[in-house]
Amino acid sequence: MIEVRNLVKKYGEVTAVRGISFDAKPGQVTGFLGPNGAGKTTTMRMLTGFMPPTSGKATVAGYDVFEQSMEVRKRVGYLPESVPLYRDMTARNYLMYMGEIRGLKNVRAKADDVLERVGLTRRAQSRIRTLSKGMRQRVGLAQALLHDPQVLILDEPTIGLDPIQVLEIRDVVRQLGRDHTLLFSTHILSEAEQVCDNLVIINQGQIVAEGSPAQLRAELERGGRVLVRAEGPVEQMIAAVSAIPTVAHAEAAVEGVVVTPRDANVDPRPEIAQVVVQNGWRLVELRPLAVNLEEIFLELTRQVAPAAEEASERADADGGEGGDEAGEGAREDGAREDGAREDGAREDGAREDGAREREDEEAKS
Ligand SMILES: Nc1ncnc2c1ncn2[C@@H]1O[C@H](COP(=O)(O)OP(=O)(O)OP(=O)(O)O)[C@@H](O)[C@H]1O
Ligand SMILES: [Mg+2]
Repeated sequence: MIEVRNLVKKYGEVTAVRGISFDAKPGQVTGFLGPNGAGKTTTMRMLTGFMPPTSGKATVAGYDVFEQSMEVRKRVGYLPESVPLYRDMTARNYLMYMGEIRGLKNVRAKADDVLERVGLTRRAQSRIRTLSKGMRQRVGLAQALLHDPQVLILDEPTIGLDPIQVLEIRDVVRQLGRDHTLLFSTHILSEAEQVCDNLVIINQGQIVAEGSPAQLRAELERGGRVLVRAEGPVEQMIAAVSAIPTVAHAEAAVEGVVVTPRDANVDPRPEIAQVVVQNGWRLVELRPLAVNLEEIFLELTRQVAPAAEEASERADADGGEGGDEAGEGAREDGAREDGAREDGAREDGAREDGAREREDEEAKS
């Protein structure tokens, strides 16, 4: 069980996590979904006891992540964003070594067991540097499972893998979710939908939506738009429908006229039907527009305006180089672009260093 209450993390001036609260329950995969720079890794590092929160509280398996971080670490398996691995060790030796650091007994048997769970038995004797990226990711996952923790925190385990390996890792995650409390981060909505029982959507350090994929869809459908298909002059139809008091907006779309209600809880369909029929147009179809979770996700992760000073501060510091991420939708969102670029930089240059740093961290623990 993971319980997070009003958790805040500031890096100097930058507030990466702004008072988030959520639970992750045993026997479920909880998806932590958000775009680059949303605060996923920051939150996960706090939950694994590697970094203290600025304020707020979180407990993992009943232990406070700050006050009792050693107890937390015993019960949590953590797959960090970039897996810290000793490249010259074989997969098995690395796992045995990690087991020894954690004070485990029978490390050989435990290493072989986790290698099997992640499907790497055949490469047990291979040096880590000769393994493919996906295989290294599995070694990272094996390392997280080694001490048989009840809670698993996996930071984007499928990133950078080929489609087949992505499917395999998702399968492993789903299976692990059955007998663990599993928190899994991703920025890919379809992945979250496939793998997770419960979704926590985070954007710019704040939770913007939470629930099962089905719940989220149902909730958003209720407030959703309506499609009208009728045989009649489109311009007149738009004018007539727009004049209905419960309608905020009507516009032409490929399939018909899309109507946005003024109040999400007041269904405008009866009035629309009446208006169409009164005008002598033949009503062909009148239905809620299917809401695609992808659209909802984009909407939610666009909605929250960045703290203006913070965004401009970072834009200044970055010198304003555009970057490829500057696609549609991210325009007004300077913070997100910055987040992505900083992370990119961290990955390009500092990956090896980062890995070594974390090895040290691990070694100390
Ligand atoms: N060590 C750090 N020092 C300063 N700022 C940081 C640090 N680590 C992260 N940040 C900032 O905190 C914010 C959240 O970053 P975080 O890495 O938690 O995001 P994320 O959701 O994991 O993103 P991604 O999907 O890119 O991994 C970003 O604005 C980032 O630039
Ligand atoms: Mg991250």
